[in-house]
Amino acid sequence: MTPAPENLERILFTEEQVSARIAEVAAEISDKYRGRDLKLIAVLKGSVFFLTALARAITIPLKIDFLAISSFGGPSRGPTPGLVRIAKDLDEPIHDEDVLLIEDIVDTGFTTRYLLQTLAGRGPRSLGICTLLDRSVRRIVQVPVDFRCFEIPDRFVVGCGLDHKQLYRNLGYIAVLDPERG
Ligand code: IMP
Ligand code: MG
Repeated sequence: MTPAPENLERILFTEEQVSARIAEVAAEISDKYRGRDLKLIAVLKGSVFFLTALARAITIPLKIDFLAISSFGGPSRGPTPGLVRIAKDLDEPIHDEDVLLIEDIVDTGFTTRYLLQTLAGRGPRSLGICTLLDRSVRRIVQVPVDFRCFEIPDRFVVGCGLDHKQLYRNLGYIAVLDPERG
């Protein structure tokens, strides 16, 4: 079903802007990881759209893997600290690989920090973070973001993999959801 546009307050980044920015970040990643064993790891489901767009724009060999987390959320948008667990683990080890964790959004930072700690314990050669959106104004725990496509204001957004009640992930643009009608 096509999501109803009247639920969206405004478009923050158009599909063209998103693709252009992803291409820039993909070029940076291709330069930085040339000659290394790059593996992109995405968290289901939100980051999958970004991962596929990014992977197609990267010009060096790479592998991909996925994990899924369950969060037992409190009242905030993201999970409550300590209440995240892995619901589906990676298929392959990451020992000695150059791992880039692909995120849809880094908000409070709790989810990303949990994932970083979990992955770091498995002995990757390097471990970086690449996020489509960074809402650093809401950060509670600090995480080192190596690559970011866009910094965003403190508004709830959907599209490019980000959902509201599992809807809107398939939008090609990033939009602010109207809190009255979302
Ligand atoms: P954090 O642990 O607070 O950084 O939360 C990150 C997670 O919260 C993301 O992976 C999203 O699933 C969700 N999230 C945070 N902000 C938004 C938003 O504006 N739209 C949709 N999902 C969001
Ligand atoms: Mg998510």
